[in-house]
Amino acid sequence: MTNLQQHYSLESNLLEQLFSRKRDVIKAVDGVSLELERGETLGLVGESGCGKSTLSRTILQLIPSTGGKVEFQGIDLTALSRDAVRKHRRQMQWYFKIPTLV
Ligand SMILES: Nc1ncnc2c1ncn2[C@@H]1O[C@H](COP(=O)(O)OP(=O)(O)OP(=O)(O)O)[C@@H](O)[C@H]1O
Ligand SMILES: [Mg+2]
Repeated sequence: MTNLQQHYSLESNLLEQLFSRKRDVIKAVDGVSLELERGETLGLVGESGCGKSTLSRTILQLIPSTGGKVEFQGIDLTALSRDAVRKHRRQMQWYFKIPTLV
């Protein structure tokens, strides 16, 4: 992925987002770039709230990214329709953390 971003807007609805002067955004993921080859494993470690889940959700495009690219097998998932992303997502897997082990 290249320069991936997930900026959460805190305004509750679209109208508020358009008209509020000061934009309240949480830059949960702000410019993450990394590359994984087939067979490689990457562990994402960090304190609570640092953006691990947000990054994972954004990689899977479960929430559309606010910037950057996610390339999976050479295809940019951020440029695809929801249906097309869903097909690729069949090859991806989300593991929930097991709190009792933490
Ligand atoms: N839907 C949302 N809207 C606004 N802010 C959010 C949303 N989801 C997460 N955040 C904020 O984004 C930041 C990153 O949260 P995230 O859940 O990705 O962290 P995490 O590393 O997975 O934490 P944990 O280890 O507790 O699971 C936090 O400041 C969180 O409050
Ligand atoms: Mg999390």
